[in-house]
Order: sequence, then structure tokens, then C-alpha cells
Amino acid sequence: MKVASHQLRCTGCAAVIPPEAAAADFRCAVCGGLYDIIYPWSSIAVRNPTSRSGVTTPGSMIPDTNLPNASALRWLWQERRTSSMAVDQSGVWRFRDLLPILDNPENPVTLREGNTPLYDLPRSAKALGIDFLLAKHQGIGNPTGSFKDTGMTAALSVAAERGFDWVACASTGNTSAAMAAYAARAGLRSIVLIPEGKIAWGKLSQSMDYGAITLQLRTDFDGCVRILSELIRRLPIYLLNSVNPYRAEGQKTPAFELVEQLEGQVPEHVIVPGGNLANGAALGKGFREMCDLGLIPRVPRISVVQAQGANPLFRSMQENDGAHVTPVIADTRASAIRIGNPASFRKAVGTIHSTGGWCEQASEQEIALSKAEIGAEGIGCEPASAATLAGLKKLVANGRITPEERVVLILTGHTLKDPEYTIAYHRGNLLREDELAPATLAQLSLHQTLRKPPTVLDADTDTVLRTIDAAIQTTPIHA
Ligand code: F0G
Repeated sequence: MKVASHQLRCTGCAAVIPPEAAAADFRCAVCGGLYDIIYPWSSIAVRNPTSRSGVTTPGSMIPDTNLPNASALRWLWQERRTSSMAVDQSGVWRFRDLLPILDNPENPVTLREGNTPLYDLPRSAKALGIDFLLAKHQGIGNPTGSFKDTGMTAALSVAAERGFDWVACASTGNTSAAMAAYAARAGLRSIVLIPEGKIAWGKLSQSMDYGAITLQLRTDFDGCVRILSELIRRLPIYLLNSVNPYRAEGQKTPAFELVEQLEGQVPEHVIVPGGNLANGAALGKGFREMCDLGLIPRVPRISVVQAQGANPLFRSMQENDGAHVTPVIADTRASAIRIGNPASFRKAVGTIHSTGGWCEQASEQEIALSKAEIGAEGIGCEPASAATLAGLKKLVANGRITPEERVVLILTGHTLKDPEYTIAYHRGNLLREDELAPATLAQLSLHQTLRKPPTVLDADTDTVLRTIDAAIQTTPIHA
């Protein structure tokens, strides 16, 4: 008998189904909830072996003797770093023992994703008065420049293995870039639905470059999701939005990498930007599974930061502790997280509650300032990613994070994804006066220090020298 490696468990009603029983929209037939992938060793499978659906009992899939062993895993994952095989070089598939979702695990659709750097942010830490601030930069190292690649290699490998010819997603730009790249790599056709005029140019150019059918709909992201849910009912296309639970299997692996990079240590706090709200939950799943297997002693707090103009989770946590969500009309220049009706709302609330994290919001001015600060550390990121630092400032100010706690910001996208935003900021025409009005004097002065507008000059050496001299006088080094 072929032993099932994994099953799908509804995060709403706990119904468990085999992989082949999933509907095209990846919604639970009983309650409409989203699924998580579970394995025989997932705590949920071990502790809760009977499902309400009665379809199957995950605890009975594989005998206990086949549970992954923590020390063997640590050794194996290190060994694979020296291998020349693509599957071992991938920062996702190097951990394939904890995402056994493929029938042929040695042959995924990979672009050597993952293996992203962990940087310290000494200036931001000093400014905040905290000892230990790190940034795991998912925009650097990943082939299309965002964290979406880790999830896309997983879900697209499943699509290819199951024989789909077409894949599709609705996106604020990064999912579509990643999907288009991995689909091209696998020889599949891809359809991208994006909100017209509301995604960054870098991302739009990527989906065209990788050969997707790119459809710019005159609506917002939430409108694109509505159209896509109609399309998948009518066409045999594989849905690659983050409701697809295989995406989370790839997106949980930065948690494994992070612990390796910290030599087995677990930070106290991990902070992610929140849009459709899948990423925090995926990382939470990664940490939880490591904990279940004895690889780490505890799970960090996971907090989510939303843009103030796209803050349905923040509002819900304030108003009813995440019991229910009221969609908003989203509006923020951090276009990656311009989402008013997040699909993974329930998962995000579950992650915040179970890890003891929080949800914060950040204004346009606060996001812009934090992005400039991350840029000034020589790292840079796209606007949505900078929401993490803006949220951290609030968590420190209100005492939720104490100086000795180790904090890791998840920077989700590369700074070159959205150069228009950066140029507008430095030229001084990003923020309106009413957006700057609530800024403190300290914030205004920091904006002034960090803004480096380009200067157009005649090609004359004296003029250039005079201008450099003036710049040195007026802008002290940000230390
Ligand atoms: N940061 C970036 C750069 C993103 O592209 C996204 C989401 C997020 C943060 C939020 O992650 O949705 O898991 O809460 N981008 C999606 C997309 C929606 O279509 O590219 P989330």
C-alpha cells in the first residue's frame, strides 16, 4: 500500500482530506475554510488523530519509527549545502524532509531559491535602544527578488507533478512575478491578474519578461481575486494564490534557515508585513514544526504590521480580538500590501494568538521613513517590507518588546521592485503635507537627514566640487 506523505486539514472545522480531494479553490467543502498541510509528525496530527470529516486519521499514516530525527536532520541539512545538485542547493528543498509534498522529491521546479541573508541593523537598533535587531532579507537571494519564490517553488512543483498545463494567480505583483518565473521554468503557461495602475513597475516587468499572460484589470487586488475565483470554476487552471496550502510549505522554510543562521537559537520576536496574511502563518508553521520535532525549544512571538490604509487585521484585533473581520477599501503606496479583504485572516489571527504576537499598523509617513532608514543601512527593501521596522518602533515604544529581546524583521522584497517610490521619496514628492503633518520633530529631522535627492549639474569640475562641498556641510553622516 502506498503511504500518504501528507494530508490537508481545514483550519476552520478541522476536517482532514487526502490531497487529491482538494477542490480547485482550495476551500473546505464543509465550512469554506483554508487548509494547512499536515504530516504524521505534525503536532495536530499526533494529538488529534480523529477528524470530524471521518475521511482519514492522519496519525495512522506512518509508523512512529519514521518520524524525522532532529539530530539526523540537522546533519543532513548541513551536508546538502556542499552538494552540487539543484535540489540540495535550493534553500527550500534542502529541507525537503519537512515538506514531503512531492511524489518525486528529488526533481522539483527550482531556481535555487532561499538561502537568504540575515543582516544586523545596528543603526536602527541603536536608535530604538534595543540590543539585537536583525533583518532576514527575503528579497535578496531569491531569484525574482521576493519571499514569494520560496512558496512558489513548492506549489508550482505540485502543479507540474499533477500534470497541469495552466497556472494562475491574482497578485499585487510579487506573487505574479514568482509564478511567471517558475511556470516558465517548468514549461507551464501562466495567467496573471493584477490591479491596473496599482502595482510597482519592477514587478509588472517581471511577469512580462517571464512570458505570462498579463491581464491588468480595472479594479483592485480584491477585485482580481473575485474574477480569478470565477475563472478557476470554468477553466482547468491550477490556482497559485496563497490559499493554495502548498505555498505555505515553501514559505515556512525561512524559519528553518533562520534558526540555522542563529546557530540553533530562537529569536524572541519575528515581525512580518501583512497583506493577504499568509506569510506570518507560514513562518509560524515552520517554527511550530521545528518545535514539535525537538529542533528548537520554543516558538518566537510572530507579529504582523499592516499599512494604516490597508489595515483590516489591525482593526479586527483592536475591535474584537480577531473574532471577525470587516473588509476595507485598501489604499497605501506600499502596493504589495494594498489588500482590503485578506484571504488568510483566520490563519493570521491563529498565529498571533498562539505565539503571543501582536498586530500593529504604520502610516505612509512612518513606512517611508523606515524604508529610508533600512536603505541607509546599505540594505534597502521595498515599501511593504519597511512596515516591519515602522511597527517595531511602536512595539518598543509601548513596551511590548524590551531592549534585551532579539528581534528579526522579515524584509519581503528587494528595493529595486519599486524604484519609483524611492525616487519620489528622495525628490520630496512622495508624501503629501497632510501625511507629514502628524510627524514628530524627530521624524521630520530624520527625513531631512536621509533624503538624498539627485542633483542635475553641468559637466564642470568646479561646479561638481562646490556641490559636493555643500552636500557635506548640510547632510551629516547618518550614524
Ligand atoms: N511584502 C511583500 C513584498 C509582498 O509582496 C506581500 C504580498 C506581503 C509583504 C504580504 O504578505 O500577503 O502573505 O501577508 N504580496 C502578495 C502578492 C499579495 O500578490 O504579491 P502576505
